[in-house]
Amino acid sequence: MSDVLELLDVSVVRDGRALVDDVSWAVKEGERWVILGPNGAGKTTLLNIASSYLFPTSGTASILGEKLGKPGTDVFELRPRIGMAGAAMADKMPKRQTVLQTVLTAAYGMTATWHENYDEVDEQRARAFLDRLGMTEYLDRKFGTLSEGERKRTLIARAMMTDPELLLLDEPAAGLDLGGREDLVRRLGRLAQDPYAPSMVMVTHHVEEIAPGFTHVLMIRQGKVLAAGPMETELTSRNLSLCFGLPLLVEQRGNRWSAQGLPLG
Ligand SMILES: Nc1ncnc2c1ncn2[C@@H]1O[C@H](COP(=O)(O)OP(=O)(O)OP(=O)(O)O)[C@@H](O)[C@H]1O
Ligand SMILES: [Mg+2]
Repeated sequence: MSDVLELLDVSVVRDGRALVDDVSWAVKEGERWVILGPNGAGKTTLLNIASSYLFPTSGTASILGEKLGKPGTDVFELRPRIGMAGAAMADKMPKRQTVLQTVLTAAYGMTATWHENYDEVDEQRARAFLDRLGMTEYLDRKFGTLSEGERKRTLIARAMMTDPELLLLDEPAAGLDLGGREDLVRRLGRLAQDPYAPSMVMVTHHVEEIAPGFTHVLMIRQGKVLAAGPMETELTSRNLSLCFGLPLLVEQRGNRWSAQGLPLG
């Protein structure tokens, strides 16, 4: 199996501080990874490398077989092969654009619409992805008027639009109510279990948000890898406690996870 993502001794240093500290990590085709770690651990920074928008200070990063910073690697060819949905993306979307336009513009590598003549095929694809995310009733709504959950689902549909080989999700369930979270977990679960869906990497703060079908977990703390590997062996109470710095109990019920703090002493 080929590597979708391969980081070797990658560090990102800003103001003399390593935000990502000597990280080696590989994502193989067909794997779906969850990244866990406290606030400020470097999760979003890692996703920014994986999306080719940030280059490591040291070490090497290869994405979909292309090595970042190497002569001959054109990030502008690489970027359409990667879908990214996160809070930073939401801020870039014009608020007055409709939901359908917001998704459609992704096909042209832009955030804003500038002509009305989109291919019929693209529009059908945009509608199909929005339908898959339960957004069919919102096609003509202005992006700026959407609730947090509707916005998240629109951006995931948008990230799928270029038919990416790698899908990166930064806290897709943050800000959702319980129903919204469960709905999103179900939809992500369907996607994660679809053999034709892209490789996926999802950052989350809560193990309850891990959808069935996710196979691997990367835990980071202060920019360093604390654990990396199959969910069954790595998503343990011990690892999670070390990661968040307090005693935690992780439980798996069926194909879902939960965690809670243990009483001290
Ligand atoms: N350009 C920058 N210059 C200096 N420090 C930065 C820069 N970008 C991020 N940081 C810092 O790097 C650390 C890691 O940030 P990052 O956004 O990757 O964390 P995170 O794990 O995604 O956190 P959260 O869970 O809060 O989203 C943070 O302490 C942040 O303040
Ligand atoms: Mg973050």
